[in-house]
Amino acid sequence: MTQAINTERLALRPWEDSDVDFVFDLYSRWVVQRFIGNEPAVMNSRREALDKVARFQSIDHPVHGIWAVTRKEDSTPVGTLLLKPIPASGEEPLEASSDVEIGWHFHPDHWGNGYATEAAAAVLEHAFAAGLEQVVAVTNPANEASQSVCRRIGMEHQGQTEDYYNATCEFFTVTKPAIS
Ligand SMILES: CC(C)(COP(=O)(O)OP(=O)(O)OC[C@H]1O[C@@H](n2cnc3c(N)ncnc32)[C@H](O)[C@@H]1OP(=O)(O)O)[C@@H](O)C(=O)NCCC(=O)NCCS
Repeated sequence: MTQAINTERLALRPWEDSDVDFVFDLYSRWVVQRFIGNEPAVMNSRREALDKVARFQSIDHPVHGIWAVTRKEDSTPVGTLLLKPIPASGEEPLEASSDVEIGWHFHPDHWGNGYATEAAAAVLEHAFAAGLEQVVAVTNPANEASQSVCRRIGMEHQGQTEDYYNATCEFFTVTKPAIS
C-alpha cells in the first residue's frame, strides 16, 4: 500500500477507482505526454485510464509508490508523483535497475504553483527517512520544466546518460543528507 504523505498544501494518497476520469484527462494531453517515453503518445481511451489506475494501485511496497497528489483545500487531484526502480537500457521489455527514480506528471491546470516541487520534496524526504541512499531522475533534454523541479528539490545535474529507458536523458541525482 502506498504510504500517505502530507505537505502544507497537498495530500499524497493511493489512487482510488474514482480517479479514472482525472487520469484520463491528465494522460490524454500532449503537453503532459510529449516528453514521456521514447515514443510519446497520448492516452486515447478511458479503458487505458482504468488499466493505468489499476497498475498504480498494484504497487505494494513500503517505500516505493505512485501517489495521487491532491490539493488539501478541496481534495482536487493535481498530478502524479512516483518513486520506483528505474528501467535499465537493454532489450525490451526493460528490466528494473537497482537505482530508484523520482518522477512527476502534473495537470497543466495546476502548473506554476510549486505543487510538483512541494510533492517531490516530500517524497524525497520519505525516501531518505526510509533508508534509501540515493534517488535519481531522468528527463528528456528538452524538458526544462522538469529539470527545474529536479534543481528546486536539490538534485544535481550529472550530464546526460543513456543508461536508462534506451534513451538519451538528462541525469540528476541526490544522496541522503548526512546527519550532522
Ligand atoms: C514537470 C512539471 C511537473 C513542472 O510543473 P511546474 O508547474 O513547472 O512545477 P512546480 O509545480 O514545481 O511549479 C513551479 C513554478 O511555480 C511557481 N510557484 C508559484 N507559487 C509557488 C510556490 N508557492 N512554491 C514554489 N513555486 C511556486 C514557481 O515560481 C515556478 O514557476 P516558473 O515555472 O515560472 O519558474 C510539469 O511541467 C509537467 O507535469 N509536465 C508534463 C509531465 C512531464 O514532463 N513530467 C516530467 C517527466 S521527466
